[in-house]
Amino acid sequence: MNTFGKLGWFLALILAIGLGTMSYTFLVKGQTVPYADGRTSVLLSPDERNQVLGEMRAILAGVQEIQESVLAGDMEPAAARATSMGMAAANADAQILAKLPLEFSTLGLSLHRSFDDLAQTISGTDDPLVVIGEVTDLMLQCVACHDTYRLGIEGEAVAAGK
Ligand code: HEC
Repeated sequence: MNTFGKLGWFLALILAIGLGTMSYTFLVKGQTVPYADGRTSVLLSPDERNQVLGEMRAILAGVQEIQESVLAGDMEPAAARATSMGMAAANADAQILAKLPLEFSTLGLSLHRSFDDLAQTISGTDDPLVVIGEVTDLMLQCVACHDTYRLGIEGEAVAAGK
C-alpha cells in the first residue's frame, strides 16, 4: 500500500471514530452533565425546561384525575384521560429530543405506551382496584426517571456539576 492509501485508511478510521463518538454523544448521552447528588442533569434552555416541567405537572394532574374518576366509578372519562396521555401525546419538540439521553426518551415513550395500556384496562374493567394497581406499577417509571435525571439549564453546567 502506498503512503496515500495508508493515509486514506487512517483518515477513514479517524472519521469513523469521530462519527461514532458524535453519535454516542448526541444519541446516547444527550446534552448531560453529572450532578452533585448522583443524578444526571439534562441541560435545556430555560423555555425548554419550563415546557418539560409543565408537561410533568400535566401528567401528575392526569394521574390524579384518573384515580378520582375511577374511584367514583366513572370509567369512561378515566379511560379518555389515560388515552390523552398515550402515544398520541408523544410529540416532543425535535430540538428538546436532540438534547435528551436515549434512556430518558425511551422511558418517556414507555410511559406514554403505559397510559394507552391503562386506557385499555380501564375500558375492560369496573374494578377500581385493578386500575389503581396498574397506576401504581406505571408510577414506578416516574420514580425511576426522577431518581436518575434532573433538568438543568444550559450554561449552568459548572455550577450544577460536582
Ligand atoms: C423520562 C423521565 C421522566 C418520567 C418518566 C417522568 N418524569 Fe417527571 N420529571 C422528570 C424530570 C427530569 C424532572 C425535573 C426534576 C428536577 O429537575 O429535579 C421531572 C419533574 C416532575 C415534576 C415537577 C414539575 C415542576 O414544575 O417542578 C412533576 C410533578 C413530575 N415530574 C411528575 C411526574 C409523574 C407523575 C410521572 C409519571 C406518571 C413522571 N413525572 C414521569 C423526568 C421524568
